[in-house]
Amino acid sequence: MSAPVLGIIGGTGLTELSNLEIVRRQVARTPYGEASGALTFGRMGGIPVIFLARHGYGHTIAPHQVNYRANLWALHAEGVTRVVSIASVGGIAPELGPGTLALPNQILDYTWGRKCTFFEGPDQPVTHVDFTHPYCPHLRAALLGAAAAVGEPIVPEGVYATTQGPRLETAAEIDRLERDGATMVGMTGMPEAALARELSLSYATIAVVANHAAGRGTSSGGISLDAIRAVMQEALGRARRIVERVVVDHERS
Ligand code: HPA
Repeated sequence: MSAPVLGIIGGTGLTELSNLEIVRRQVARTPYGEASGALTFGRMGGIPVIFLARHGYGHTIAPHQVNYRANLWALHAEGVTRVVSIASVGGIAPELGPGTLALPNQILDYTWGRKCTFFEGPDQPVTHVDFTHPYCPHLRAALLGAAAAVGEPIVPEGVYATTQGPRLETAAEIDRLERDGATMVGMTGMPEAALARELSLSYATIAVVANHAAGRGTSSGGISLDAIRAVMQEALGRARRIVERVVVDHERS
């Protein structure tokens, strides 16, 4: 195993990091199957990181088909101890308009049928991990510090509801999620966060608000996928600046 290194899981629209100097790519086979794509070993500001595109490099893997176990296992097996994930979401709370960045601190899980634990099978004792606080408070603090350092506003808290997808939600479903306490909705937050916890990885997510959730704001009459693309391109640039900074801070810590 190599030295501790920061892993980055890129979501929709983030299949590469422009500021990543690529050293090599390595196909990742694990006991749980293949990861979404080759691991990209690279350097950011001279510091080693490992990048993985959650949906594959051609964005071909739908949220419910992502092999979350293989992705997390592959990063862990390469010595990754901290994982920053980047995920696009729909904004439910009024302050989460398109283009906003947010750092969720809680999760609701509405997914089903996904492989959601490493602790199953004949040789595995049943294991219940503590998940009271699903995101690592230290990594969240580091991301908040990095955002402040590069002058990028970020909403410091939020409740990320994970839906099954790949379809977007109905307006009534968004109303229900809001009643449940969700402030944003995405399709990949779980089981990724829980699997990271099972591997004792420090894990946090930068949520990039792509659109108002169904039935809200500019999405009251429907969600425009063209508008999402335009928003994401610009907003992901800001998320990248935060990631780049946290990589430097990680190296110093
Ligand atoms: N719902 C679920 N996932 C999403 C959305 C949404 O509105 N926008 C981006 N990812």
